[in-house]
Amino acid sequence: MIRLAILLSGRGSNFQAIHDAIAAGRLDATIVCVISNVPEAPGLARARELGLSSHSIDQRAYSTRPAHEEEVLRVLAEAQPDFICLAGYMRLLTPAFVAAYPSRILNIHPSLLPAFPGVNAQAQAVEYGAKVSGCTVHFVDQNLDAGPILVQRTVEVRDDDTAESLAARILEQEHIAYVDVLRKLSRGDYRIEGRRVLFGLTVNGARGENGLP
Ligand code: GRF
Repeated sequence: MIRLAILLSGRGSNFQAIHDAIAAGRLDATIVCVISNVPEAPGLARARELGLSSHSIDQRAYSTRPAHEEEVLRVLAEAQPDFICLAGYMRLLTPAFVAAYPSRILNIHPSLLPAFPGVNAQAQAVEYGAKVSGCTVHFVDQNLDAGPILVQRTVEVRDDDTAESLAARILEQEHIAYVDVLRKLSRGDYRIEGRRVLFGLTVNGARGENGLP
């Protein structure tokens, strides 16, 4: 059983997908807190409806990024998460925040990183003329959309796609990808070698279920 903190700023469909997987017994985890920097985020309202520990920490009430983060970190320290899931959290984390939870903060991004980092990744893919895009779940490091990759899922870019139609199909894959990653992390059967996250390895390095060397 892993303890998850969710940070979100908006709709919260990835949060909902994680919650649904737990409720259905498909993911051995518990959501210990949901934090939003945007008080009116629909995802935060949903967390409240679900009776989860929900925290509105309005970034506009703090004069600096570190001051805002201090409050977020205080809530996190109380909640004691194993992993912090950024799920549409539209605020950059300071290096100090990232350093407080090394290899324990996850993000989901709607492209196949390192292609199309930053905002409007789906529109970037359509405008660039990419034939394939998708989503990436990665560990968060000091750089934007750049940490070690945990999982990627591909989505074909169709000739008649708009940013919106592509985003809708990528979102379906995001929900699968995030739950998949968390299921893997809950088994604890992974290790990080530089940029590479390797799954299915036993602790002593013997061959695991994925047959990785
Ligand atoms: C998703 O597209 C995610 O990849 C990006 O922000 C969006 C959040 O959607 N980081 P939701 O709030 O989880 O519905």
